[in-house]
Amino acid sequence: MTKSSDIDLTVLQNSPSPESRKWYFLPETDSTNAEVIRRLSSHPSEEGLVVIADCQTGGKGRSGRVWHSAPGTGIYLSMLIQPNFSSERIPIVTLMAGLAAAIAVNEFIPQPAQLKWPNDLLLNNKKIAGVLCEYYATKVPAVIIGIGINVNHTQFPDDIKDIATSLKLESGLETNRTTLIKQLVTQFDFQYSELKNNKIQALIDNWTRHSDLFGKSIIISKGDQSITGKAVRLDNLGRLVVLNESGKEIVLDSGEVRIQRK
Ligand code: BTN
Repeated sequence: MTKSSDIDLTVLQNSPSPESRKWYFLPETDSTNAEVIRRLSSHPSEEGLVVIADCQTGGKGRSGRVWHSAPGTGIYLSMLIQPNFSSERIPIVTLMAGLAAAIAVNEFIPQPAQLKWPNDLLLNNKKIAGVLCEYYATKVPAVIIGIGINVNHTQFPDDIKDIATSLKLESGLETNRTTLIKQLVTQFDFQYSELKNNKIQALIDNWTRHSDLFGKSIIISKGDQSITGKAVRLDNLGRLVVLNESGKEIVLDSGEVRIQRK
């Protein structure tokens, strides 16, 4: 099957993309990230592979959470890249994917969504998209980049209805998912080529322009620890630099950020 509702695989396959790219569409799967990981054992080298599902029964979010993946509404997409650089750069890959999602999504809404470190895309303080990168240290190291975008949802389950939103809820308009996927993958390819050309600072600067985090008071939770401070900048490894309450700059490579709203 190549088509379900508004996801048209033929259109995607004919869009400008690296020649070797393979596209797959699944009406349903547990998780597109898991699908790519399973494929890796039989196809260890498929740089650029894109797997899209209309629905996920076990969509994975960060920190072991579930990603709400109702059929016919969202974008559930995973890409495989096999970059020739060390795992130290993986956080930059996550930022790059978030940036690609922000630029693509912002084409479809009147008011820009904002990135929240490391990989959330928020609109009116509610989550509209998220990125889950998984590193796989096989013979050819692989990064699976999973992107979830809330597109045409008109409602969410009770447990997330106050913290999630969609393009439809924000703009009142239905968005064609094929068109948005095309934008997303085009942006991703562009940002990835910048990264391969070592344009790290340009990427960090661009990410920063798409975020309203800096200068804000935040609380970062990491395990059972929590740090209060002010978000200052990203360093060149994509880590968050925070000015803590004692006036000392600390550098964080992971954590859950909460913006303190007045
Ligand atoms: C987050 O918690 O913010 C990350 C959400 C990532 C969800 C996407 S949907 C496509 C891909 N497959 C998954 O199982 N998860 C990611």
